[in-house]
Amino acid sequence: MELRQIGTSDLRATPIVFGAWAIGGWMWGGTDDEKAVEAINAAIDAGINAIDTAAVYGFGHSERIVGEAIQNRRDEVLVFTKCGLRWDHDGGQHHFDSEKADGEPVEIHRDLSRDSILWECEQSLERLGIDRIDLYQCHWPHEDTPAEETMGALVELLDQGLIGAIGVSNFTAEMIDEFLSYGPIHCSQPKFSLLSHEHLDGVIAWCDEHDIATIVYSPLEQGLLTGKVTVDREFAEGDQRRDRPWYTEENVRRVNAVLDQVMRPIAEAHGATLAQTTLAWTVRAPGITCALAGTRNPDQALENAGAMDIELTDEEFQTIKDAFWQIEGP
Ligand SMILES: NC(=O)c1ccc[n+]([C@@H]2O[C@H](COP(=O)([O-])OP(=O)(O)OC[C@H]3O[C@@H](n4cnc5c(N)ncnc54)[C@H](OP(=O)(O)O)[C@@H]3O)[C@@H](O)[C@H]2O)c1
Repeated sequence: MELRQIGTSDLRATPIVFGAWAIGGWMWGGTDDEKAVEAINAAIDAGINAIDTAAVYGFGHSERIVGEAIQNRRDEVLVFTKCGLRWDHDGGQHHFDSEKADGEPVEIHRDLSRDSILWECEQSLERLGIDRIDLYQCHWPHEDTPAEETMGALVELLDQGLIGAIGVSNFTAEMIDEFLSYGPIHCSQPKFSLLSHEHLDGVIAWCDEHDIATIVYSPLEQGLLTGKVTVDREFAEGDQRRDRPWYTEENVRRVNAVLDQVMRPIAEAHGATLAQTTLAWTVRAPGITCALAGTRNPDQALENAGAMDIELTDEEFQTIKDAFWQIEGP
């Protein structure tokens, strides 16, 4: 299996990484814990060697599920998690209002202060049942905390061996550049898909030039780019896709038309599904190290892992790009 280096760290990850947000249930209309554990095991069995989660996913639930799934196979998998979004105290910059699975309102706050990071790391290690987080990422920027303080805490954790590499998510190139004055940044995690590609020539290209890996989130545009979202699909209460602009009836039709007309013939030529072709395209795009494929069950795990066997030609890559770049955003 191909492995890709995470920046200048000694981590090597498979191009497809298991995304563990949905299995936390929060913002995805709930979750099935048993299936989630099976999905993680199926992904590892199929060759995926890394999992991306975050403390805030299900308010600790995703990390606990990941911990349960990997308890007897820790050596086979890299664990990436995130800090900086707190739901359990009301200090720090307001991020957004949300609600827990039982409908209880919750305010999410950004906090990248030293004390918060050290405390969050301890909590995540405990929930995950491990003694080292391979990649620890700042989930969102927190402009009230000086970069020097945040990086000081992360470098301390690195020196103690509690984390193996440092990452940031949703940061601009300028923000990463400032953080680099105080220590290493191994990885950046922006959003990127065939429908959301505004960062490709920006922070993604910048990181490529600075030896920083890029692992991208929502490469399937939360399921839309699998071709399995049809206009009659009903999303559960609490599933964020009910309100996402790409998920209006008109947009689902427009995207499915391009998937059918342009991507499907290419997928069929490779004996691949649309989801696999989308993921194979994503990890072939310039500057992209890995794609985080959000996965809820064993079938999706197998399908998504199968994307690593598909190699698109230059011409196929370009044909798909041209077609999707023409779709106007919502
Ligand atoms: N740093 C950040 O701010 C940030 C933000 C978002 C995500 N992330 C990370 O990136 C990961 C991936 O992003 P994402 O979960 O937002 O979106 P995604 O990977 O684009 O889509 C995931 C969703 O697509 C559906 N799906 C996945 N594989 C499928 C398949 N083979 N066939 C049909 N449907 C399939 C599943 O939903 P259904 O089965 O319900 O349709 C799944 O929950 C997350 O898990 C998380 O680790 C990070």
